[in-house]
Amino acid sequence: MLLEIEDIHVHYGKIAALKGITVSVDEGEIVSLIGANGAGKTTTLKTISGLRNLSAGAIRFDGRDISRLAGHKRVTAGIGQAPEGRGIFPGMTVEENLLMGAYARKESAAKELAEAYELFPRLAERKSQAGGTMSGGEQQMLAIGRALMAAPKVLLLDEPSMGLAPMLVQQIFSIIEEINRRGTTVLLVEQNAQQALQIAHRAYVLETGRVVKAAPAAELLDDPQVRAAYLGGELGDDVAAAADVTSQESVEAPSEGSADATEEGTSS
Ligand SMILES: Nc1ncnc2c1ncn2[C@@H]1O[C@H](COP(=O)(O)OP(=O)(O)OP(=O)(O)O)[C@@H](O)[C@H]1O
Ligand SMILES: [Mg+2]
Repeated sequence: MLLEIEDIHVHYGKIAALKGITVSVDEGEIVSLIGANGAGKTTTLKTISGLRNLSAGAIRFDGRDISRLAGHKRVTAGIGQAPEGRGIFPGMTVEENLLMGAYARKESAAKELAEAYELFPRLAERKSQAGGTMSGGEQQMLAIGRALMAAPKVLLLDEPSMGLAPMLVQQIFSIIEEINRRGTTVLLVEQNAQQALQIAHRAYVLETGRVVKAAPAAELLDDPQVRAAYLGGELGDDVAAAADVTSQESVEAPSEGSADATEEGTSS
């Protein structure tokens, strides 16, 4: 196994966020963690990358115990992370942001930079644009591209599809598959369980700090309990009904100010 998380417990003060999580990721896999808000998905990723400390349990990576290793050393060991909420540097250009991802490397990052631009042509077109002026979807691409600059063995992704328009969601998931095809192992946290399970080999379902299910992703897609809890069977109809009501109300709608809700919202 490339990455083994064994019975980890993590606390925020006295509150236990992880109550014994065991997850393993084999080389070449896409493994997904799904679960409701607060289940402990982000905390699990942060603990793997060294941003949170364990109170019990162990993390092994590439045959070595990294439970107490400093975060930056985990990056050089081969653990890359694109954090939830993106965390790019708004005042730096796209290219400077990408190069920040390779700061820990001694060798030139020219090859990784070329690869990032190949995966994300949009970033190549916008090399000298300030990171903060990129759209939400573009910033997400930038965050993933930056994580790849360190040439990680495993890439940890926290909600890469969050806040993106449906077409971009599709695109981000295909790019994750492509990154995996090119040889990077992926541990993917997603609320968008349907899409995550479609590209993952295996997945774990987390509930309030525990793993409640672990199975091949295809099996979870067919699991009635998983379908009911995370794949929202009835949602489609509700959305259609709501859309119907709005279209009837809009007979006398004013011509301006009615279409100001954007897919990605406005980040202030
Ligand atoms: N900095 C913090 N201080 C205190 N409690 C925290 C902190 N961060 C997370 N928690 C708590 O730990 C638990 C797990 O949170 P975590 O962010 O890992 O969940 P998650 O599965 O990523 O949820 P979401 O889907 O909403 O992102 C939650 O109960 C949360 O309130
Ligand atoms: Mg989270």
